[in-house]
Amino acid sequence: MLEAAFDMAAPAPATGMDERPPGAVLRARGLCFDAGGKRLIDNIDIDIRPGRRTLVMGANGAGKSLLLRLLHGLIRPTAGEVLWQGRPLDREGRLRQAMVFQRPVLLRRSVLANLRFALAVRGLSRPERRAREAEAMERSQLGGLANRPARVLSGGEQQRLAVVRALACAPRVLFLDEPTASLDPGSTHAIEQLVADAHESGVAIVLVTHDIGQARRLGDDLIFLHEGRVVETGPVSGVLDAPRSEAARAWLEGRLYLESPPRPEA
Ligand SMILES: Nc1ncnc2c1ncn2[C@@H]1O[C@H](COP(=O)(O)OP(=O)(O)O)[C@@H](O)[C@H]1O
Ligand SMILES: [Mg+2]
Repeated sequence: MLEAAFDMAAPAPATGMDERPPGAVLRARGLCFDAGGKRLIDNIDIDIRPGRRTLVMGANGAGKSLLLRLLHGLIRPTAGEVLWQGRPLDREGRLRQAMVFQRPVLLRRSVLANLRFALAVRGLSRPERRAREAEAMERSQLGGLANRPARVLSGGEQQRLAVVRALACAPRVLFLDEPTASLDPGSTHAIEQLVADAHESGVAIVLVTHDIGQARRLGDDLIFLHEGRVVETGPVSGVLDAPRSEAARAWLEGRLYLESPPRPEA
């Protein structure tokens, strides 16, 4: 069922870019972001590989959300670059990515209209849009609610809608920024299942979470951020079981849980 949805992925862009490069689908090189006179993202180099599940973890204020926004092209880096299949990220690349936020961003319209709107900008044929809508409705298990205003759904239902809407666009990379942080266990499980299914279908996942259990269930690679820098990377279980950096150790032991105080001047 899911495979069918992803077989319907939009055709390769007309630029002739290779759809299945051997290396990273998405790369950050020397990525920096400054605001308010501060360097908030500091010289980050990372590779997001096709079909892998990459977790981004770190204390509040470490820069996780900023990093996702930069990778998704929502904000421009102060320095460095984001490369999509080896080229600077452009509109075409952004349309092959999707993002889900902690609080779902839904239109003040029906459930179905939210799906339709997302698909409308992707230049698909009408039958294909209808097929994807039906698939997304089924996957969301929101069957009877198609014409209900999206804003009156429960938090868990809204987030399910946000995730299936993102997946209906057949992204190659799905970003999720603490997607279950305000959900109950049942709703969390439903979201995790959707993410697992998307991964099975070959979508690369980039997930921010504070939930260690979720990290172990859903992650392959872990990027640990501290004060805007990558301080540790590795397989999820390796980092969680035997962190090498003091920042990751402190965070895992609960000693680092608030926004860090400014670093003393060198
Ligand atoms: N536009 C902005 N202007 C100034 N500071 C910002 C801006 N966006 C985020 N920040 C600051 O950057 C730091 C990292 O933010 P964020 O990426 O949201 O952290 P995280 O998601 O890891 O909790 C925080 O200290 C936050 O207050
Ligand atoms: Mg955040």
